[in-house]
This record gives sequence, C-alpha cells and structure tokens, in this order.
Amino acid sequence: MKITVVGAGNVGATCADVLATREIANEIVLLDIKEGFAEGKALDIWQTAPINQYDARTIGSTNDYAMTKDSEVVVITSGLPRKPGMSRDDLIATNAGIVKTVTENIIKYSPNAIIIVVSNPLDVMTYCAYLHAKTDSKKVFGMAGILDTARYRAFLATELNVSPKDIQAVLMGGHGDTMVPLPRYTTVSGIPVTELIAEDKLNEIIERTKFGGGEIVKLLGTSAWYAPGAAAAQMVEAIVRDQKRIFPVCAWLQGEYGMNDIYLGVPVILGKNGIEKIIELQLNSAEKALLAESAEAVKSVMDVLDNMNANA
Ligand code: NAI
Ligand code: 2OP
Repeated sequence: MKITVVGAGNVGATCADVLATREIANEIVLLDIKEGFAEGKALDIWQTAPINQYDARTIGSTNDYAMTKDSEVVVITSGLPRKPGMSRDDLIATNAGIVKTVTENIIKYSPNAIIIVVSNPLDVMTYCAYLHAKTDSKKVFGMAGILDTARYRAFLATELNVSPKDIQAVLMGGHGDTMVPLPRYTTVSGIPVTELIAEDKLNEIIERTKFGGGEIVKLLGTSAWYAPGAAAAQMVEAIVRDQKRIFPVCAWLQGEYGMNDIYLGVPVILGKNGIEKIIELQLNSAEKALLAESAEAVKSVMDVLDNMNANA
C-alpha cells in the first residue's frame, strides 16, 4: 500500500516519519518541488529503519508525480508556513496556487486517492483541493481538529496532572482563532472536566488553545510540525486500517449543522472510505452561536478564494 506526502518540509517529513516508524503503510512517497530535498529527507528516514526496527520504505521524489501513481491516501503539506505576525489567512494566494497544482497532479496519477489537506489557511485550502480534485467530498478533507484538540488535551493534562491519554474532547469550527473547544463534550476518563477544574482556569485553557498555533510561531519563528505531522498520520492510519475512529475533521457540509457548501471542523467517523459519517451533536444555543461565528470567518476566506478564481 502506497501513501504519498506532498511537501517534504517540517510537517510533511514528520508525517512521513510517523507513517514509516509505525508501519502504517509499506511504501511512503515523499514529494517536494525543491530539487533533491524529498530524496534527502526520505533517505534519512529510511536510514532510521534498522535502528527503529521497521520495514516500511520511504522514497523521495522531486516533483515526479509518476512515482505517486496509485496512492491510496495523499497528504498535502506543501505551501508556506506562517511567520511571526502573519495569520493563516495571509498565506491564501500563494498556497492556493500550490494546492491547485498539487491536487491536479495527484488526481492524474491516483484518481481514487483520499486526500488529506494540511496546508494553511486550512479550511480554505481543503476547499481549494476539493474544487480541483473533482471527486467525492467524503474523500477530500482537512487536518486541524486533531491538532487543536491535542493542544487542548495537552494543556488540560498539564493543569490536572493526569495522563493526556485519559482526556477526550470535541472541538469544532475553523482552524483559526474562532475555533470552538467544547467543555460540555470534554471528559477525563468519563468524568466531566467541569467537575475537576475551576471555570476560570478552563476558560484560560480554551483561550490558550485557540491561539495555540500562534504561541508556537512566536517561540520558533515558524509554525509547529511534530503534532501536526503526527495528527495527519493518525488520520491516514484510521483510513488504511479502517478503524472507524471519531475525530474532528474539516469536512464539506451539506445541511449538517444547518450549513451548506462550507468546509468546517466537525466530528466524523473515519474509515476506509474516508469520511463515513458526519456526527451531528445536539449543540446548545451558546455553542451554536460560536460555531456560526467560526463558520462566518471561514466563509469570508472561502469567498476570497472564489473571487480569486472568478478573476483568474
Ligand atoms: P515547510 O516550509 O517546512 O514545508 C513546506 C514544503 O512545501 C517545502 O519543502 C516546499 O519546498 C514545499 N513546496 C512548496 N511548493 C510546492 C509544490 N508546488 N509542490 C511540492 N512541494 C512544494 O512548511 P511546514 O512547516 O511543513 O508547513 C506546511 C504547511 O502546513 C503550511 O502551509 C503550514 O501553515 C501548514 N500547517 C498546517 C497545520 C494544520 O493544522 N492544518 C499545522 C501546521 C502547519
Ligand atoms: C498551527 O496551528 C500554524 O496551523 C498551524 O500550528
């Protein structure tokens, strides 16, 4: 089974490394436009195999899509990352051009591939890939919710001094400052989180989560990669192992949550067919209002892309 990761930068190489180390696929193709870069990263990853004791082979390619032929899943990480002071939306023009070209090439060689988009601005780049893939929306979706939820769960684990494994949570909305962590759907081994933490502390953690990407950009001068790469690999695993995992995923909504024609983070079941079901939670009015606000923010950036396409 072949998995392709496009973009051999920080997130793409990390994702490929996790896919290989955990033997999620037996062949991983890492592709980048920069001459020799993907080959170098792939060779380095492959040379960890004797040390980490696995057989999955990673190979690199400089923009040769023939090598990606018949990939089952493709992860798109190509594009510019954020620099300090930039929002994810500042990346739209450059990254839309990249995601368009990459998607067309991927579909040419793997018409049945499931596509996971990571490039930012995430919700809108997922929409961009969907427009150019011309395939079922259940096979084109974006990674953000697993990362954002992981940040929320990690902050809670630190605060409560418990294992992050025991923290379950749902987070919805766009991958931006309007994302909606949901305390009512957050538990610690089945115990509602609100029984374990004071309201003001929980609110602080929610705010920190919303700006969790920016916190890392400020510290590193570029955006995060370990958690994003691992999150994308976890989605690939759910698909190739048909695990039916429930994750927050950026999905195309057609009536769910009363919304149409928008890519937005919602809980879904992921399996061999991609998105097998969108789960509709019974949100209360405050949660619905936050989700609507987030959807509006995403829609405004989708409109920028639509206008760019109309004027092209
Ligand atoms: P990076 O700069 O380390 O890697 C990007 C790679 O894409 C570079 O190696 C570049 O040569 C390659 N590339 C550019 N144009 C290409 C093309 N046309 N075809 C193939 N490869 C091409 O950036 P990093 O940190 O890996 O981030 C990648 C993207 O992921 C960024 O847009 C970033 O904002 C986004 N991101 C999204 C997250 C999410 O939660 N959805 C989390 C973290 C990053
Ligand atoms: C992140 O959330 C910037 O989207 C990137 O780390």
